[in-house]
Amino acid sequence: MADQSFNITDNRTGKSYTLPVHDGTIRAMDLRPIKADPEEFGTMTYDPAFLNTASCRSAITYIDGDRGILRYRGYPIEELAEKCSFMEVAYLLLNGELPTQIELDQWITEIKSHTMIHETTKHFLQGFRYNAHPMTMFISTVAALSSVYPECKHVLDPTIRRREIVRLIAKVPTIAAYCYRHQLGYPYVYPDNDLSYAENFMNMLWRMAEPKFLANPVLARALDILFILHADHEQNCSTNVMRCVGSSQADPYVSLSAAAAALSGPLHGGANEEVLRMLDEIGTVDNVKPYVDKVKSGHTKLMGFGHRVYKNYDPRARIIKWTANQVFEVTGRNRKIDVALALEKIALEDEYFVKRKLYPNVDFYSGIIYEAMGFEPSIFTVLFAIPRTVGWLAQWQEMITDPEQKISRPRQLYIGHAERHVPTLAERSVPATAIAMS
Ligand code: ACO
Repeated sequence: MADQSFNITDNRTGKSYTLPVHDGTIRAMDLRPIKADPEEFGTMTYDPAFLNTASCRSAITYIDGDRGILRYRGYPIEELAEKCSFMEVAYLLLNGELPTQIELDQWITEIKSHTMIHETTKHFLQGFRYNAHPMTMFISTVAALSSVYPECKHVLDPTIRRREIVRLIAKVPTIAAYCYRHQLGYPYVYPDNDLSYAENFMNMLWRMAEPKFLANPVLARALDILFILHADHEQNCSTNVMRCVGSSQADPYVSLSAAAAALSGPLHGGANEEVLRMLDEIGTVDNVKPYVDKVKSGHTKLMGFGHRVYKNYDPRARIIKWTANQVFEVTGRNRKIDVALALEKIALEDEYFVKRKLYPNVDFYSGIIYEAMGFEPSIFTVLFAIPRTVGWLAQWQEMITDPEQKISRPRQLYIGHAERHVPTLAERSVPATAIAMS
């Protein structure tokens, strides 16, 4: 409500200030006039890691972390995962509404007409060392696409922007699959536009000498659901990078490459790979309790647990758990699920985790499904990056078209030296304290 306000009294000067409150939020710039001395810069907020700072207004994704709610454009994630395809959800995130049948058909055709990557990009990929990490290859190759489509620099042109969005969504599965096959030493497989988005990705990953790849429909649907669950998650670390880099009007390829780099870290999208490593290390259900004790004593973290926003069960983890059972019907049970379930049970009952509101996040179960489907752990984060490309681009587009957005540029609290003068080289061998005394 616009007519709400706070009164702030500056005890240094005795002056009072009225700050408007909109949507339960004050504008940091309204604090600037609060000064003890007119020569001062003014009051700022200090918020390392953005624990309590809204960086934008967004109409894309809603999260209520205390109640475990996630919605895209108002639709609950559970309904989208049950009733929609990833292509419908991608359209929804980018355009604000679910597509009609005609719009969906056009959208799918448009995406399919951009799935190939240029042969020079293929050669670029071939230049990577045989054991390069797929996520490193993915990040570099997405950035390299900027050189193939130089017109992408015109980010303020809506027609160009839209074409680059389509290109990126269409090409990321192709790049991801090539990164995967490069690591295995297999020839790259061209896209097959008879297939759905997820099926075609599976085709490019796994087709060998057979003339036509036939995806198992249960596994293809499971992958599609996983794509839906990973498509967007409001202002997380990588999305913040996408918006921040994009705010300088850098092109979408290099901005998205930077976002993917942020995703690769073990505290973010890289956690799914770490979860598998952790489950391997634990090995059996009997070792779960000692491992939890190790976590509680601060020696390690329980990967796939905890979240900056969710202080309740991550709704995506619940859907992934359900999807895991569908996948296991086809692939057979991944025995790591027993260790994961035992770990979850002990952790959810333990005071350490209860007190800190640590619950399984999206990465806790996703790796187990991916492994059951035949993926190597090194590709897990790339599997995350494919659908998140849609979220990054939806957020980038919202940022570019938001009249309030400017180049992203935080302030700092300077805690270094006051002005000092450059000593000669000879003076520098003398302890700094001695120079100060002279
Ligand atoms: N295992 C053990 N303890 C944990 C964990 C964990 N996974 N996560 C948080 N804690 C503890 C912290 O040590 C801290 O304890 P303290 O209060 O005694 O110091 C407390 O819980 C609060 O944790 P913070 O680090 O302040 O939480 P923050 O919001 O900064 O971090 C994060 C969130 C990075 C996700 C963290 O929970 C973590 O590292 N989890 C493991 C990695 C992971 O699964 N990442 C994927 C997140 S989902 C995604 O990005 C797609």
